[in-house]
Amino acid sequence: MRTPMFSRILHGGDYNPEQWPEAVWLEDVALMKEAHCQTMSVGIFSWAALERADGEYTFEWLDRVMNLLHANGISVVLATPSAAHPAWLSASHPEVLRCRHDRVREEHRARVNYCLTSRVYRRKSAAMAEQLARRYGSHPALILWHVSNEYHGECHCELCQSAFQAWLRERYGSLDQLNAAWGMRVWSHTVSAWTQIRSPAPWPHGQWCNLALKLDWKRFTNDQHLACYLTEAEVLRRITPEIPLTTNMHQLCTGWLHWRAFAPHVDVASWDSYPVEYFESGDWRQAAPAAFRHDFMRSLKRQPFLLMESNPGWQRGRRQKRPGMHRLASLQALAHGSESVQYFQWRNCRSQVEKYHGAVVDHDGTSAPRVFREVAELGGELEQLVAIRGAMPQPKVAVIFDEENHWALSHSPAMRGEGDSIYLDVCLEHYRCFWQRGIAVDVVASTADLSGYRLVVAPLLYMVLPGVAEQLGAYVEAGGILVISCWSGYVDQHDTAFAGGFPGPLRHMAGLWSEEIDGLVAESSQSFGMRGLGMSGSFSARRFCDVCHLDDAEVLAVYEDDYYAGRPAVTRKRSGSGWCYYLATLPDESFLTLFHGQLATQLELPRSWPGELPEGLIAQARGEYIFLLNFTSNPATVSADGRAYVEVAGNIACGEQIELPPFGAVVIHLLEGSS
Ligand code: GAL
Repeated sequence: MRTPMFSRILHGGDYNPEQWPEAVWLEDVALMKEAHCQTMSVGIFSWAALERADGEYTFEWLDRVMNLLHANGISVVLATPSAAHPAWLSASHPEVLRCRHDRVREEHRARVNYCLTSRVYRRKSAAMAEQLARRYGSHPALILWHVSNEYHGECHCELCQSAFQAWLRERYGSLDQLNAAWGMRVWSHTVSAWTQIRSPAPWPHGQWCNLALKLDWKRFTNDQHLACYLTEAEVLRRITPEIPLTTNMHQLCTGWLHWRAFAPHVDVASWDSYPVEYFESGDWRQAAPAAFRHDFMRSLKRQPFLLMESNPGWQRGRRQKRPGMHRLASLQALAHGSESVQYFQWRNCRSQVEKYHGAVVDHDGTSAPRVFREVAELGGELEQLVAIRGAMPQPKVAVIFDEENHWALSHSPAMRGEGDSIYLDVCLEHYRCFWQRGIAVDVVASTADLSGYRLVVAPLLYMVLPGVAEQLGAYVEAGGILVISCWSGYVDQHDTAFAGGFPGPLRHMAGLWSEEIDGLVAESSQSFGMRGLGMSGSFSARRFCDVCHLDDAEVLAVYEDDYYAGRPAVTRKRSGSGWCYYLATLPDESFLTLFHGQLATQLELPRSWPGELPEGLIAQARGEYIFLLNFTSNPATVSADGRAYVEVAGNIACGEQIELPPFGAVVIHLLEGSS
């Protein structure tokens, strides 16, 4: 099924009516209308309320909710409740509970506490999906299935151990193949039976665990999550083929899951965005990670996506979102391709750990609070923005953020304990250079089709998957510009170091050999002098410095200190009609901003806004619509440069100057004939 086009920009959130008496439902519906909320995600954690004992289904209350919402013009994203199975299921079938990595079976805890392999769990969740599909498949309120909630975690029980062994047997065919691929001769790790392979255990063994095993365990676990999703998805598709499916992804680019593996199996990608750093710091640079993740989402299917959860307010006691920030973050999602603004949650719960979390309706139960009013105002604006549906940013730049590479870097002994964060941090540093210039970016896998991009930036491509070097080579030969960095081309898909010198299979394309890599122990202990690409000056090297020999690359910058002074720090090599740039160190943002600025100018990369913008004011075009987003706490003025714009949302006059208040945003459209 193609990505569905909903008739409106969805606005609403997680709604848990089973926590409330029915009289409150009527208040809810009245408040939903007041807040211009027309879409509710229902049933996410309702399993115990829908099946009170094995096979005893109780859907009557949900019937009334569905009917009530529909009667009031509110659509439903109906969830399968499999993220929180009932206590009776754990009690009658303890195998449905997860085992921790120390092999201890967990108690029936909060949620997402199910074994990823248990047949009982899968059978019961599929049965629930079937009940829901048969009962509500043709309900007029239903617009989308929301399968489970935020897949994550691992299970180390015996069922999972056996499934892992079977998964490996399927993948490798024979133990000889597995022993060879995993480099099992080291430390006498060779196994002679599949049952000798166990999931990675915690310290002290975990630290010394075979890295290929760790990697395959991540892949296996990911496949198990996907299998749980597909178990339910297949039922829903069979019974309601016309209703689209999604699952709400989360923790993007943190190494939790390989979400790209889910992308072909959802009709519309959706995710939960909680950009805490930006809300709490108010620092405009911290708005880039959310933009990056929205771009990751859009790039999953190269189609619009849904913002399935966001926090309309903020946790009590934490620094509150400043007036306007909620609207700004919501319009940011739209600017990057979202077709919804959804919240966790509609009405604040009175019990348990999330009772102080932000919600549209807080504990006072009225529309009086600032958060409610900001949500309502935004809801009104979203109605004006309906025309942007289907329009997409048109990036000519891609940043490669590869989830499997992230796993490999996370556990790499070379990363000096920074493995978990370094990859995202460095990718973001590159990304920010384009984002702050209003240049649209796709965030793609190393295996993606790159043919439409003028520039591809692939920092820290430590693990090179089969076929990727060839594809990158073909991209450059055909005229593409590729930027790679140190720590690239080190290991294959089994975490085995490439023979023949680093950057392994990228060596020919880069035209150099990294003989050593020096880890800097003090900041500013190394610098490099740049005298190419229209740049000159001395810049700081950071963290790592490749000490390279040139094969046939051209030198653009050399190190200035220490025993490798004079050796190349930035190079480029021409292949066919393209170039491969190599950054031998991890330069800081002052260098990257200039470097990518030069490339952007030379390549005439399209900018969302023609003129210069004040710092922290970000432009992002979505088709013909331009979003101007002021992420700073200062008012900002933008010159219209003689063009005439019409404002689509923002309540801001668009004369010669466009004035944006602190955390203000406007969506504008160029008036015809005014270019
Ligand atoms: C999400 C989750 C919601 C809620 C929210 C709180 O990760 O899906 O159910 O817990 O976090 O921020």
